[in-house]
Amino acid sequence: MTQAIETRYQELAESSCCLSCGTAVGHCRPEPGQVCVDLGSGRGTDVLRLAEQVGPTGHAYGLDITEAMLDKARKTATKLGVENATFLRSELEELALPDCTADWVTSNCVLNHAADKGRVWREIARILKKGGQFVVSDIYAVEPVAAEYRDDPAAIAECWAGAITKDEYLLHVQRAGLVDVRILEEGEPYAKGKARVVSFTLAGRKTPGCCSCF
Ligand SMILES: C[S@@+](CC[C@H](N)C(=O)[O-])C[C@H]1O[C@@H](n2cnc3c(N)ncnc32)[C@H](O)[C@@H]1O
Repeated sequence: MTQAIETRYQELAESSCCLSCGTAVGHCRPEPGQVCVDLGSGRGTDVLRLAEQVGPTGHAYGLDITEAMLDKARKTATKLGVENATFLRSELEELALPDCTADWVTSNCVLNHAADKGRVWREIARILKKGGQFVVSDIYAVEPVAAEYRDDPAAIAECWAGAITKDEYLLHVQRAGLVDVRILEEGEPYAKGKARVVSFTLAGRKTPGCCSCF
């Protein structure tokens, strides 16, 4: 599955085409000294913006599976002299960060690619600190994607066949124990591949009263 994704994004790493489907990072309000994580960080633009916002006492991490994207992002950070950003190779379902790391988790047009979305949301909850917040832009499918495409790696890599319905999406977030979940942006349905999808931006947080973080 991830091979098709890596192949697609390897080709897009040096392009300038827009790969986003919302404005998630624009809704994050990190403070100096905080830690931010961008899942599926692509060319690293959002990570560099977050790194600037948290300043030298904070840190921004970009996680991605495609080496060409990581390479592009690291080169840009070096070129700009950004020292508080780190780009790590990581699967969405097994995030390469310890428990209770992040004050903010963001992601833009990535989670639809994940095969096990419930596991991804449990991972987001795991790496958030108590009271830590998430803002995620993604797509949902208006109707369930036809069974013949749902496991098709090429169609999933094209950002549509992995889309699930809004109800399913919100259920994963809720089951991961995240709270105060709200929709910040929601577009009109549009055709993508063989599906009709909607771009949306979702926010919420890990409960301050949870017991897994010290
Ligand atoms: C549509 S691009 C979005 C990039 C960036 N967030 C932006 O808005 O420009 C999707 C990114 O997610 C990464 N990605 C896709 N599936 C992934 C997975 N299972 N684990 C980690 N990264 C993944 C891809 O390599 C790619 O860089």
